[in-house]
Amino acid sequence: MDSADQFRFTHLPHAAPTPAARRAELLADPGFGRVFTDHMAVVRYKEGQGWHNPTIEARAPISLDPAAAVLHYAQEIFEGMKAYRAADGAVVMFRPDANARRFRESAERMAMAPVPDALFLQAVRELVRTDRDWIPEGENASLYLRPFMIASEAFLGVKPSSEYLFIVIASPVGAYFSAGAVTVWVSEDYTRAAPGGTGAAKCGGNYAASLLAQREAKAHGCDQVLFLDAAEHRWIEEMGGMNIFFVMDDSTLVTPPLGTILPGITRDTILTLARDRGLTVREDAYSIDQCYQDAAAGRLKEVFACGTAAVVTPIGRLRGRRGEIVIGSGNGADPVTETLRTALIGIQRGKAPDPHGWVQ
Ligand code: COI
Repeated sequence: MDSADQFRFTHLPHAAPTPAARRAELLADPGFGRVFTDHMAVVRYKEGQGWHNPTIEARAPISLDPAAAVLHYAQEIFEGMKAYRAADGAVVMFRPDANARRFRESAERMAMAPVPDALFLQAVRELVRTDRDWIPEGENASLYLRPFMIASEAFLGVKPSSEYLFIVIASPVGAYFSAGAVTVWVSEDYTRAAPGGTGAAKCGGNYAASLLAQREAKAHGCDQVLFLDAAEHRWIEEMGGMNIFFVMDDSTLVTPPLGTILPGITRDTILTLARDRGLTVREDAYSIDQCYQDAAAGRLKEVFACGTAAVVTPIGRLRGRRGEIVIGSGNGADPVTETLRTALIGIQRGKAPDPHGWVQ
């Protein structure tokens, strides 16, 4: 059952799709992650049966046995990706194959049944095609796609589940952050991931583990939390839901190396776009002490966050126990960040040439 051409999605009728006028109202100002389209893709897995019954159906609450493994042992993974309405009206996605691969790698780390890349891509495409009228127009707007997989076997023993549900939902979104630069809280007490742990997997548990630190960040007037490594609480890793880049005065870009951080697709894209523009990029350990020293000495020029939701978001201030540093202009209107952001958005939205063949 697992070969790609055997997956034929059955389209189940929707009893009460959203009226066009209401949809237009919702699309006018969707915010982030609160408005959802009419449909979802659902595929089931059972040991011995493989992936089966792929459907596009009305988006609705799902029914789970209260003993389902995900509810007890958090066997869950997800992805974040976007569909855009390109300048010529075509509907495009950005590097969806990279999301399919990462989803498979996350599944392997969490001892879950991997979704074949072809099935993942087909589910996403079928949903986007079905709900294409939900793709919002506008500079910062897109249809955010959230593929996820949960362990659905009803069993309280601790072992990999023998049953899974793979679902894709879609949400028209605007910008994740309101305009301008964000302020980031450096968490010295909480860490996100340790060597040998699940930091590189996109699993819900990593995000659950970030929430208390994120609450601390908010209490200090910050938008996001920045985590340090678990062993020494010294090396900068990543933020609650996005990767981080530092721009030095010699136009070198520094970003933490892969290992315990999420291998961001936007992170990888930025590395390539920067190299294309002749910038030097280093995937190197960078300590929080060095960061404060570089800021004081004027060597640290810009800092930005990146991710599917965040796109490229300038960071204007780092705040923490050792005080606050203002980066660049403090308001985010800094040249390297802006160049990379414009380049990324241009390709994603089909406004600029796509030399790496990222847009589908
Ligand atoms: C994404 O960027 O897609 C994520 O999954 C991160 C989350 C903060 C929305």
